[in-house]
Amino acid sequence: MALANSINGAVRRVPAWPLYLLGAGWMGWQFWLALTGQGKYGVEPINVLEREYGLDALILLVAGLAVTPLRTWAGVNLIKFRRAIGLLAFFFVLAHFLVFALLDVQTLGRVVTEVVKRPYVTVGFIAFLALIPLALTSNNWSIRRMGPVRWRRLHKLVYPAALLGALHFIWLVKGWPLEPFLYMGGLILLLALRLKWSRIREIATTRRGGARTS
Ligand code: HEM
Repeated sequence: MALANSINGAVRRVPAWPLYLLGAGWMGWQFWLALTGQGKYGVEPINVLEREYGLDALILLVAGLAVTPLRTWAGVNLIKFRRAIGLLAFFFVLAHFLVFALLDVQTLGRVVTEVVKRPYVTVGFIAFLALIPLALTSNNWSIRRMGPVRWRRLHKLVYPAALLGALHFIWLVKGWPLEPFLYMGGLILLLALRLKWSRIREIATTRRGGARTS
């Protein structure tokens, strides 16, 4: 707990806004490298940029979902960064989609065909759609207007969205590389950790009670 306390103490002094700058800077830097064909962008820069933004989005989704379990299980409180992480995840998905639509396939007709014909694109698109209301309501005004209960209920959409994002990755790779499965495994673990012990015990007790009476 001493480590958690010193992390929390340090975090209290760090504002969340530099995260937006870091995210925008990283996104712009990757775009610039792709534009100038440097490093890994030497061959097929559009495809590499599309993949870079997709992967960044998935990493941010996982990071955002790790915030609550980190607090519950390790006492590390990074809640003040959660909104920035979530919004950045959305902006990376948006950038991923825009690179796909505007630079890769380039016409609206082909975007529609790809979304309809390729199941892995369909799954990614559904995840993207699910994140839109979350991004639009990630502000204090929406929380006040909707009330915390409705707001929290809506924001549970991030769970299926992240799982669909990971499924999209598994689906699009060829063969059985470990990486996409690690993301899916990590997400499942994080979602399982959100179930508090009390809730797990409650479910177990109800089951046992049910088994005795039947
Ligand atoms: C939550 C939403 C999404 C997430 C988390 C996501 C994530 C990813 C990831 C991790 C990759 C592979 C990166 C790599 O190989 O290193 C990828 C590739 C791809 N994604 Fe997405 N994606 C999402 C939404 C979308 C949407 C909305 C579209 C288009 C409608 C899309 C189209 C693609 C395509 C076409 C590729 C493969 C690029 C290629 O190699 O040809 N994705 N995505």
